[in-house]
Amino acid sequence: MCGIFAYKGKRDTSLDLVVKGLQKLEYRGYDSWGVASEIDDNIFVEKSTGKISEVKEGAFADKKSHMAIGHTRWATHGGVTEENAHPHLDGDGEIAIVHNGIIENFQEIRDELGHGIFKSETDTEVIAQLIGKYRKEMDFKEAVLKTIERLEGRYAIVVMNKGEEFLIAARRGSPLIVGVGEDEYFLASDIPAFLEYTQDVNYLDDNELVVVDGGIEFFSLETGEKIEKRLVNIDWQAESAEKGDYDHYMLKEIMEQKETILRALNQDEDQINTVVEAIKNARGTFFSGCGTAGKVCMTGEYFFAAIADRHVNFQPASEFPIYHHFLRPESLLVTVSQSGETADVLEAMEVAKSKGSKVLSLVNVEGSTISRESDYSLLINAGPEKAVASTKATTSQLALLLLLAYAIKGQLQEGRRHLSEVGSQINDMLNPRFLTYIKEVAEKVKEANDLYIIGKAENYPMALEAAIKIQEVSYIHAQGFPAGELKHGPIALITEGTPCLSIIANDEVKADVINNTIELKSRGAYIIGIAPENNDVFDEWIKVPDVGVASPLVNIIPIQLLAYYLSTLKGLDPDMPRNLAKSVTVK
Ligand code: M6R
Repeated sequence: MCGIFAYKGKRDTSLDLVVKGLQKLEYRGYDSWGVASEIDDNIFVEKSTGKISEVKEGAFADKKSHMAIGHTRWATHGGVTEENAHPHLDGDGEIAIVHNGIIENFQEIRDELGHGIFKSETDTEVIAQLIGKYRKEMDFKEAVLKTIERLEGRYAIVVMNKGEEFLIAARRGSPLIVGVGEDEYFLASDIPAFLEYTQDVNYLDDNELVVVDGGIEFFSLETGEKIEKRLVNIDWQAESAEKGDYDHYMLKEIMEQKETILRALNQDEDQINTVVEAIKNARGTFFSGCGTAGKVCMTGEYFFAAIADRHVNFQPASEFPIYHHFLRPESLLVTVSQSGETADVLEAMEVAKSKGSKVLSLVNVEGSTISRESDYSLLINAGPEKAVASTKATTSQLALLLLLAYAIKGQLQEGRRHLSEVGSQINDMLNPRFLTYIKEVAEKVKEANDLYIIGKAENYPMALEAAIKIQEVSYIHAQGFPAGELKHGPIALITEGTPCLSIIANDEVKADVINNTIELKSRGAYIIGIAPENNDVFDEWIKVPDVGVASPLVNIIPIQLLAYYLSTLKGLDPDMPRNLAKSVTVK
């Protein structure tokens, strides 16, 4: 996954504008960056390893042009080097291309073209070299089309050609959106990149190509025919995608949970009823998602059992295809994804659809591939989430799954009331004193090498999610366990002072988890209790409101904050953890 941004239009500051757009896409990849434009009748390219956020405003002020392309990279093929950064050029330096995705047959094309001509180790350069080769025999658009016919894999590309005043972009499996301004166009992997200029967008679908000239024209890559597209107005404000007064997006997004739970409840009742019918009529309901979204699905299993008395099966999306023989036309796959672009989830959906099953998705990004390829789709309405670590999307996904469970039971309004109450409790909880205390706890455990988390029932998946949060931003080895499993192995890891988080809701399993916490304490663990009520076994008590079955929503928030402070106290950047990127569009 990488970030693409390109501009064509009335402004002559296209290079600086592209840098600014890429800075908003940096969450998609931050190994290296690059830009290209035609300056003084030559293709000008600037690339570098490191972060695009370090490029100064106006860095290209002396290079005037009305069209430019750019890229911020998360390395897949080839290490993090300047040569491997995009844009890539053809042999004559006349074609420049940026690419997001993976070209699966790149080796075969490389062998065919001869390895000597390649300057990088990337799969992307084969696209530039092929277009360059075909360009000698045909016009630019035909050369791009002929090249695309050869490509296998997933991609979004934007290409420019010296001497031609238009951009060509195409998509198969990786996102690409066209922002439509007044006499200007923006091509980007995600909407926040151009939100300050326009809220009007055209979504490029798979197997479509767009030519951006004085206007825009869309074509089908399958039939070659022109396509008419609907302009969609996006209801996001530019500021919602900015850091504002916060040091990091992660903290800003954690704090936004004061309002986002309520926004998740903002659902069209007819749509909810349709979805509820689909769930009720399904014979075999499967939940699937990746990483944090997967842990949300696991929690959903508990919500559906406890409230709707329905059994659902969860599999991480990367494991889901193995279960294809359980899928039938009457089955329903429910996918959960913040970005709506995760490759493993898309593959799970392809498998389900190939068996005739229906797909319901819960996504945050409107118009994303997952939402468009689903039979039913609900938006969680959390607004742009830019920190790599998912926080506000997590609790909004949980809220929507819980609301669905209530709706299946015929108690939609009761569900809304309950979750609205949870929203206001979260609002009260996220006060300055609470943040200061969590920071103090983080200070006490920040030197730990290992940290363990236990939970039971619907808080067991939250123990797993807690581990993901702590691992990804603080690099501390963190592991979550079902509380009752400790004595079957993991307790051997506990020594004097090992920090352990114990998530204890006020529910029927409370006594069990307290006992398991005492077992940890007896082996010397330093206990951080996350619970509505204090207990002698706690060394630290993080008090959370008592919200009944919705406890995962309030329990995960202090852990998100703990992860955030562990990261910042260690001098790390929580928004851009090493080796990760926000949306994982590769398998
Ligand atoms: O966009 P998605 O929700 O589909 O992403 C799934 C995971 O990649 C994501 O939740 C990941 O685990 C986060 N970095 C966790 O904070």
